[in-house]
Amino acid sequence: MLTKRRFGLWTGILAVGFGTVVGFTALAEDAPVTPDGTPAYIVKDGQVDKGTYNGYRRFHATCHTCHGFDASGSSFAPNLTDSLKRLSYDDFKDVVVNGRQNQGATGDRVMPSFGLDPNIMEHLDDIYRYLKARADGALPGGRPQRLGG
Ligand code: HEC
Repeated sequence: MLTKRRFGLWTGILAVGFGTVVGFTALAEDAPVTPDGTPAYIVKDGQVDKGTYNGYRRFHATCHTCHGFDASGSSFAPNLTDSLKRLSYDDFKDVVVNGRQNQGATGDRVMPSFGLDPNIMEHLDDIYRYLKARADGALPGGRPQRLGG
């Protein structure tokens, strides 16, 4: 199994999103994934894995200008702590890579495409980890602490 090979010994069990309970190791340096390879997160005593922490930082370098601090939305971009309850990982990637334009009455809500932006593409999994932890209610707003330091 991928996670086992990558992370060595099982050291704990924790609910990590997707309504499933999966095993993970407590190596805080690594970014956890579910057995099917979907990025996951670890939140333990209010502390997060390195990937989720990186996602927090990357989100607040770019996405928060429209989606608000803590991903809680603004008057012109949706609250992603709601969106990530319903969007799959693939849906999420599709929107961020390709962007989206609302064809509704006003048509003025534009999600830019980040497919050519390496600052986002290289950290897409971590941004997903952070947003999923927020959407699952596992992580409160504000700057999280990093596990192991
Ligand atoms: C310029 C403003 C802006 C920026 C910056 C921005 N977004 Fe968006 N985003 C939007 C708008 C507006 C929508 C809604 C588009 C629509 O209604 O079709 C949206 C939609 C989304 C959705 C789909 C939400 C849903 O409920 O379907 C996701 C996921 C998303 N953005 C993620 C991100 C991420 C991650 C970043 C940073 C890499 C980001 N956005 C940066 C404006 C922005």
